[in-house]
Amino acid sequence: MLAFGDAAVAEGRPQVPMTEVRESMTAEQRSSLAHLHERRSSPAWLFFRRFLAHPLRLASILESSPSLSRLVAKQISCDPDDYVVELGAGTGPITRALLAAGVAPDRLIAVEIDAQMAGFLRQRFPGVTVIEEDALALKDAIPPEALNKIGAVVCGVPISLLPAAQQRDLVDVMLSLLPPGRGFLAYTHRLTSPLPADALGLAGERRAFTLLNLPPASVWAFREST
Ligand SMILES: C[S@@+](CC[C@H](N)C(=O)[O-])C[C@H]1O[C@@H](n2cnc3c(N)ncnc32)[C@H](O)[C@@H]1O
Repeated sequence: MLAFGDAAVAEGRPQVPMTEVRESMTAEQRSSLAHLHERRSSPAWLFFRRFLAHPLRLASILESSPSLSRLVAKQISCDPDDYVVELGAGTGPITRALLAAGVAPDRLIAVEIDAQMAGFLRQRFPGVTVIEEDALALKDAIPPEALNKIGAVVCGVPISLLPAAQQRDLVDVMLSLLPPGRGFLAYTHRLTSPLPADALGLAGERRAFTLLNLPPASVWAFREST
């Protein structure tokens, strides 16, 4: 694609430096340009663009709402020294809610398979450990200092859409990160459980529901059934 100056050269016109262009703009034009730039670098816009690139991996055209994000964060109960692992952090609405709920940035590990969103998370949340990785391969990517000190796992990967074998593998990864007996959280747009709990040897319960998300969503907690 030709930049402004290159286009002028290609058409044999004299070049106008961008600084001069900006200086000659009215305040209103500058504000519209800033507004456009803000929109194009907003989390919602990035989420939508990545959805177009990987619809099944994102499974939603919109990031989670503040209401759903707060409900997820409210369900976290672990020692303040424990690490919290968030799988499928996307553009970070749940990450933000976890931080707002008191999880320290250096105790939060956000995992995201998409390089653009992982880069966005790093910029948006300095201090949070962002791992660009497939959650299924996470065990080897967890920083050694966090191993055996993880108190909560939140699954934002659309686990209900995975084939049965991958659901099993992801459940195993999540349970292997946690102390024995501790369960993980998953949020879903489904009206029913996002996982076939019985088949996976899990006990699951819906902990919260909100209409203030598009589509409405629930937070589930799963643990190994005894
Ligand atoms: C439904 S979106 C949730 C995003 C964000 N947490 C939110 O609530 O808006 C699912 C996210 O999981 C990521 N994802 C999908 N499969 C993944 C995998 N195997 N490993 C890590 N991240 C994955 C997607 O790229 C996407 O960002």
